[in-house]
Amino acid sequence: SDSLTVAELAKKLHREPSEIIKKLFMLGVMATINQVLDKDAIELIAGDYGVEVEEEIQIDVTDLEVYFTDDEAAELDERPAVVTIMGHVDHGKTTTLDSIRNTKVTAGEAGGITQHIGAYQVEENGKKITFLDTPGHAAFTTMRARGAKITDITILVVAADDGVMPQTIEAINHAKAAEVPIIVAVNKMDKESANPDRVMQELTEYGLIPEAWGGDTIFVPISAIKGEGIDNLLEMILLVSEVEEYKANPNRNAVGTVIEAQLDKGRGSVATLLVQNGTLKVGDPIVVGNTFGRVRAMVNDLGRRVKHAEPSTPVEITGLNDVPQAGDRFVVLSDEKSARQIGESRAQQALQAQRSEKTKISLDNLFEHM
Ligand code: GTP
Ligand code: MG
Repeated sequence: SDSLTVAELAKKLHREPSEIIKKLFMLGVMATINQVLDKDAIELIAGDYGVEVEEEIQIDVTDLEVYFTDDEAAELDERPAVVTIMGHVDHGKTTTLDSIRNTKVTAGEAGGITQHIGAYQVEENGKKITFLDTPGHAAFTTMRARGAKITDITILVVAADDGVMPQTIEAINHAKAAEVPIIVAVNKMDKESANPDRVMQELTEYGLIPEAWGGDTIFVPISAIKGEGIDNLLEMILLVSEVEEYKANPNRNAVGTVIEAQLDKGRGSVATLLVQNGTLKVGDPIVVGNTFGRVRAMVNDLGRRVKHAEPSTPVEITGLNDVPQAGDRFVVLSDEKSARQIGESRAQQALQAQRSEKTKISLDNLFEHM
């Protein structure tokens, strides 16, 4: 485990707790017998006694990351790319997302152009692409802070009449940190004052060099408002997808990430999930962040009820006991009892973590006092 109380550590070291307390005191820390010590503090004290702390190799079933296992190559199938759109204020992110949806979702389909959840899928040349309609930066930052990588490709929208702006640079930094490939959409090409060369020139400073200039960044001129260049943009996404070969195993319990969640008056907890591996089915026992339940109903991006959701598919589900948070992981378990147990102990742990945060002695505290 990653933390022990002073008493537990003393026992493991075959010493009296008072001796450990004294040692801590010498390091400038006033500790009680029930004080929780973190991993680094434990190693420091144990090291003082010439004891090396062995890493316990143990699977913690309440850690949802352990369910994100790799699959055998033979089990893998192609999956759609998951794409987010980023860029400076007013450069046309929303218009681009709308334009992609409007050109690709036929009006006759149920729901038509009304978007039901914060993500949607389109088809281009018989291949699907998933778009996340997250307010770029905020979502990206939260999800990255939680270690949840969900995006395969970022579309960087830059207005051709405005050029590179502060949030353009911020977006580039986010994408680079997350190692997500960038496709540049040079937007507002319909404008008199559009100057795509300037955009390309400015972006070279940030390592985004067009192919025509010897680099490897794809630039696509578009007019989101007129729907021009959108097909080309989608084709470029497919091109990158082919190179990167996004894959997943549809024949396993689903795992993925929460895109958004809220409490609905009528339906209770409603969560939009991105299935990242496996297939999610109605009736599946599930743990979502610190919540749990059984998938009661599933609705796709067109507002249609569906019974299953394959990898890279966004769906809205009901049936959870509480509201999870954006960026939370979800995992499907083989039985409802385990889902309940894991969900409940995760909720418990979260509560305890909040409480012990205040009393925990970390290595930083130790050094602060030295
Ligand atoms: P925020 O969400 O506020 O950061 O803005 P955004 O990046 O989503 O930009 P949005 O799509 O809201 O577009 C901003 C303005 O630019 C709107 O008035 C759009 O109509 C306009 N706009 C977007 N794309 C184009 C385009 O291709 N050509 C022209 N002329 N105007 C555009
Ligand atoms: Mg917008």
